[in-house]
Amino acid sequence: MSTVSVAVVIVAAGLGTRLGHPVPKAFVEVGGRSLLAHAVDRVVQVPGVDQVVVVVPDAFVEDTWALLDTPLLTVVSGGADRTASVAAGLSVLVEHVDVVLVHDAARCFTPPDVFEAVVAAVRSGDVAVVPGLPVIDTVKEVDADGLVRRTPARASLRAVQTPQGFDRVTLDRAHASGTSATDDAALIEALGLPVRVVPGSDLAFKVTTPDDLDRAHAVLTTSTT
Ligand code: CTP
Ligand code: MG
Repeated sequence: MSTVSVAVVIVAAGLGTRLGHPVPKAFVEVGGRSLLAHAVDRVVQVPGVDQVVVVVPDAFVEDTWALLDTPLLTVVSGGADRTASVAAGLSVLVEHVDVVLVHDAARCFTPPDVFEAVVAAVRSGDVAVVPGLPVIDTVKEVDADGLVRRTPARASLRAVQTPQGFDRVTLDRAHASGTSATDDAALIEALGLPVRVVPGSDLAFKVTTPDDLDRAHAVLTTSTT
């Protein structure tokens, strides 16, 4: 029987410009805990995770080691964009890891069962797996002048979330290209490799704006999540 070793890289090194708080977004508190701590609370409930790498702004590395009382934890400083922060996380993975999940700290209420579904799909042979939800709005592709180029059929669209799961060797290869993207799956697509979508969760929403922070407060007060 082969044993597969799983690591989760939580990227938390963004500034949170759109949220507009004086501290970086992952360190903003909801219900007395930071978004990052809420995310870690859920990640440690996922069975079979051997390493949790947290990527934070340089000035927060020391505090994060102290704040997160979690075995299996590694803390590193992030980069100028999300892709660079993920790469920093990948650079400290322990040798025996063969499945890597990349997760946004800002999606701090993503339930453990979404992680489990992503791991299961990678284990069953998919090199890249992302959670996604059907899109509610009709989405237009527009050009630089604001003119609509095309309207993709809504039924074929998914709004994708994290954690995104990968075969480690494939993800390392994708990052070796040195290009940036807003998610890791896009780097896999650029290699011409397949990316599988599994069902996401409403609770995996990303805290981006002040309204999202209100939603995060509501989640905490209306559920046991
Ligand atoms: N992220 C990161 N390093 C960066 C940029 C983003 O680790 N240089 C992380 C964020 O901390 C977040 C996730 O990537 O958990 C998704 O990014 P986003 O929601 O855009 O967060 P921010 O970049 O912090 O927010 P904004 O774009 O509003 O500044
Ligand atoms: Mg950003």
